[in-house]
Amino acid sequence: MRRWIKWTVIVVSAGMTLMLAFGAFIAYSFLTAKVDTVGKVDFDRELAVPPLEEGTVDEQGRRVFDLTMQRGETDLGRDEPTPTWGINGSYLGPTLRAERGEEVLVNVTNDVGEPSTLHWHGMHLPAEMDGGPHQMFDDGETWSPTWRVDQPAATLWYHPHPHGETAKHVYRGLAGMFILDDEEEAALPLPREYGVDDVPVILQDKEFDGSELDTTHGFFESNGILGDTMLVNGTPGPYLDVTTERIRLRLLNASNARVYNLHFSDDREYDVIATDGGLLPEPVRRDHLLLSPGERAEVVVSFEPGETVVLRSDEQDAGSRFTGASDRLDILQLRAADRLERSPEVPDHLADPPDLDRDDVEKTREFELQGTVINGKDMDMERIDETVELDATELWRVRNTDGQPHNFHVHDVQFAIVSVDGSPPPAELAGRKDTVFLPEQSEVELLVRFTDYADPDSPYMYHCHLLRHEDAGMMGQFVVVEPGDEAGEVSGDHAGHHSGHHD
Ligand code: C2O
Ligand code: CU
Repeated sequence: MRRWIKWTVIVVSAGMTLMLAFGAFIAYSFLTAKVDTVGKVDFDRELAVPPLEEGTVDEQGRRVFDLTMQRGETDLGRDEPTPTWGINGSYLGPTLRAERGEEVLVNVTNDVGEPSTLHWHGMHLPAEMDGGPHQMFDDGETWSPTWRVDQPAATLWYHPHPHGETAKHVYRGLAGMFILDDEEEAALPLPREYGVDDVPVILQDKEFDGSELDTTHGFFESNGILGDTMLVNGTPGPYLDVTTERIRLRLLNASNARVYNLHFSDDREYDVIATDGGLLPEPVRRDHLLLSPGERAEVVVSFEPGETVVLRSDEQDAGSRFTGASDRLDILQLRAADRLERSPEVPDHLADPPDLDRDDVEKTREFELQGTVINGKDMDMERIDETVELDATELWRVRNTDGQPHNFHVHDVQFAIVSVDGSPPPAELAGRKDTVFLPEQSEVELLVRFTDYADPDSPYMYHCHLLRHEDAGMMGQFVVVEPGDEAGEVSGDHAGHHSGHHD
């Protein structure tokens, strides 16, 4: 009897000690997981601006771009150069630029040593040209999609989309900006001198292990890596010399998991003029702006001669520790010259709002985000989840019923957000969007309409753009068909989608 009691006491107290230790570990991880670099960044490197690539025009009048995805080494501010991947360089890729109405042809050569894809995020184009998981091409091969640019001026981007490997390929450096121009935008008095008063700002947070990029996931990184080092256009600790009274920043969140809450060190207000799919109806004055992975925003910021201000990411009410909501990060220092060139005022009217009307809705679909599945299902390359009729206006109701944040991105289309948690969207979410942030326990309603390209056999994707979730299967497939048609068969096997090299 005595012995029995003694052993019980030993077992129980050992169990309690373990539980306490585990609790302490959780508490410790929670505290140390918080990142705060405010005031700690030196800003001693000039911001790199990705080279502008306008391509060449071939005899058929197509704008042709040549891209090579490759491996290399990059000075990311560590002791040794960091092994990275890049496009036409060692890290990130050039900024592509084309005009509405133009045919483009992109020759993409894979030289990274493993199969990948290149996806045109935000672009309206045929599913076969989309560069999603069905358009894999092997090392040594060239994939040459072609399409006609037909959508409003916008800041889009490109990145790989190999199923299950997207996080890794993007994190190593495969991404770039794709700027579209049109006549309406060109007629507005907005800053537009690339690299001078119209500057790409590609936001990425990195975690290093020595000089190498750390790709392991910490305890609070179930959504993906949250780094403590910010890179802008691949530059650590960057500053930008401002020479004009106003500058336009094209902000792109090309991070795997982090949500930014963008504001300036002196809390100044700025004009948000565009979001994912182009110009807003009118400029929206803000001093904070949330940007989740995949989202873009264009802002115009005013400067006084000689002043210095820092672009930061602030703590966030929405979102959680898993997307960096408790972190504060210094991002980019802006140094205004003592004499600034005149810039025109931001116009009051920018563009017409999306022409999508709730009264036209013919079909409603529900998408529930939970864990790493959508509507309870894991991504299956051979399953078409939704069949959409060409030109129909649809309402997509997306609910995050989870205890953690997600976001929702739809290929091929720019949608209109008509409600956020039952209320009209804030003004900065009233334009054309292709990616929307969904904090825990939230709901958005989107109006979508797919035009131009019906193809029952080639799916487009919708997915969470937290790349670790996407890779884990938080993705679905839809096809666009002529009214009355049915979805075809898709195979998970990529053979037949290859082009270029044959052995
Ligand atoms: Cu930015 Cu399906 O991707
Ligand atoms: Cu997610």
